[in-house]
Amino acid sequence: MKRLTVPKIRAHKTAGETREPLVMLTAYTARQAQLLDAHCDILLVGDSLAQVIYGLATTIPVTLDMMANHAAAVVRGSYHSVVVVDMPFGSYEQSPQQAFESATFLLKQSGAAAVKLEGGEQMAETVSFLNQRGIPVMGHVGLTPQAVNVLGGYAARGRSDTEAEKIVGDAKALDEAGAFAIVLEGVLEPIAIEATQAVACPTIGIGASAQCDGQVLVTEDMLGMFDRVPRFVKKYADIAGVIEQTVVQYAEEVRARSFPTEDQTYQPKR
Ligand code: KIV
Ligand code: NA
Repeated sequence: MKRLTVPKIRAHKTAGETREPLVMLTAYTARQAQLLDAHCDILLVGDSLAQVIYGLATTIPVTLDMMANHAAAVVRGSYHSVVVVDMPFGSYEQSPQQAFESATFLLKQSGAAAVKLEGGEQMAETVSFLNQRGIPVMGHVGLTPQAVNVLGGYAARGRSDTEAEKIVGDAKALDEAGAFAIVLEGVLEPIAIEATQAVACPTIGIGASAQCDGQVLVTEDMLGMFDRVPRFVKKYADIAGVIEQTVVQYAEEVRARSFPTEDQTYQPKR
């Protein structure tokens, strides 16, 4: 299976009536990437690794080194999906030049194909700057977690008319700047539909709408690794429960000396 390409993702909308929504999930490790790769179109090395892997409260402290290391692992563990790396907070907002330096570091260290950054109209110049210099960019508008200190939380966006107009305008600006896809996170469904119809590139929803051109979730959320997840998450499994039950059994067997058995023990040759 040959790896999918960014132009194929961007052309998704022109694929006609038969096209199926794009499938995207987050991945942070090589083994996780191996398990997801064949079933996805895009693997996102999200800065959500802050909470999922590192136990941080927000994505603000994430560094370029953290992103590059996890992205390299995901590239090594995949051969089919397009691998996209999140640009961490503080690594791209200052100028197109700063963004270019950070993005080249991420792509050189990891072998990933593209970066994702948060923000709308204010990032359009940067998106175009990177795209023209060989770095495809995925946009991310609506609920943008790196702006948590300005937004004051993680509530859904677009409840006022001005906010709704801004989200659609942001999506249009990114599309015109050459973004190859746009994540719409935590927005009211009518806005997600309007934004999806207003842009030529595919939209990828998370807490947005089934009418988006694709969907993404944080893998650990949908696997049921966490008790508390946002409303837009569907838990497809109870992996936390499986892990806990398994560890309970192991601990019992160790304490009862019923593990290891003969099968797991080396004896000298006779
Ligand atoms: O960091 C992340 O996981 C993301 C997705 C939820 C879109 O940005
Ligand atoms: Na992110």
